[in-house]
Amino acid sequence: MVGARIIGWGTALPQKVVSNADLSEMMETNDEWITERTGIKRRHIGGSTATLSIESAQRAITMSGIDPSSIDGVVLSTTTPDRTVPATSATVQNALGLRCGAFDLNAACSGFVYAYVVAHGLISIGAKRLLVIGTDTLSRITDWSDRGTAILFADGSGACVIDAVSDGGQLLGWDLDADGSLEHLLYADIGGYIHMDGKEVFRRAVRIMVDSAHKSLAKAGLGIDDVALCVPHQANVRIIDAACRQLGIPMERTAVVLQETGNTSSASIPLALFDAADKGRISDGDIVLMVGFGAGMTAASAVIEWRKP
Ligand code: COA
Repeated sequence: MVGARIIGWGTALPQKVVSNADLSEMMETNDEWITERTGIKRRHIGGSTATLSIESAQRAITMSGIDPSSIDGVVLSTTTPDRTVPATSATVQNALGLRCGAFDLNAACSGFVYAYVVAHGLISIGAKRLLVIGTDTLSRITDWSDRGTAILFADGSGACVIDAVSDGGQLLGWDLDADGSLEHLLYADIGGYIHMDGKEVFRRAVRIMVDSAHKSLAKAGLGIDDVALCVPHQANVRIIDAACRQLGIPMERTAVVLQETGNTSSASIPLALFDAADKGRISDGDIVLMVGFGAGMTAASAVIEWRKP
């Protein structure tokens, strides 16, 4: 059976760091409130979706040690493309000197897992090597006078190269979901800012993450005790805590970077996953559960068997 595995990865964060103290000079808020309600201490702001994507993708290509001309597709997950057309993935493809298919995908904060699963679909019909990127520059669609959202959102990127393999690959189970009837809870019109019903998003987020994780694990034929590391969407540490408690995964087996990154949407899961990999928190053969949720309201999860590149 044809499958795929990650052979290299990279991440990118803008240089500019905005602390909770910095925010308290711009709006009626404070470090204590933000830390207690969200877990976020700092976030990175700046760059464009293309520049951050190029940086993380270049690192992934370098780590993979591959000839870039062997890449036959770029899948870029983003809710914040630099232009309406062309897709930002076209800018990234050209900057990296690639000549292959390139498209953007928008499934909000579940986007990286969507992109990773869609890439496996392409592998199953003949693609050999793909670049999968998750990048968002949410600071550009955040109303910096709205303390209900400005404390949460930020910018970043994570990318990986995945290669076709004939032994079934590392993706053991997956789930993609959406409920468009809930779009009023979290949206940004074209040219407008993010609007959010924070309480309602919080309440539903926990439920849909748990539900999606269970579906992926069932497809993989695994149980929660098999999971060595859970990599949840980095939106709010209280959401992660509640979801992991309901799933029965202790925080020691959970990847959390949001204290340093805020909510970077499409970049959130790859930033957390590759941080854990870089720190040696994942060993060969470990079962990793990625699970995200976002506007739409989308949910996505994937159970993978980690293979050291
Ligand atoms: N600083 C200080 N006080 C704030 C504040 C801020 N940034 N934002 C709100 N408050 C105040 C409110 O005005 C309210 O005051 P009141 O009790 O006097 O009316 C109080 O704090 C509680 O506000 P509330 O909105 O009920 O807080 P909350 O505990 O629900 O936390 C969020 C707000 C946004 C942090 C939380 O709802 C959340 O994280 N939701 C999920 C959002 C999310 O993950 N979105 C992305 C999905 S991909």
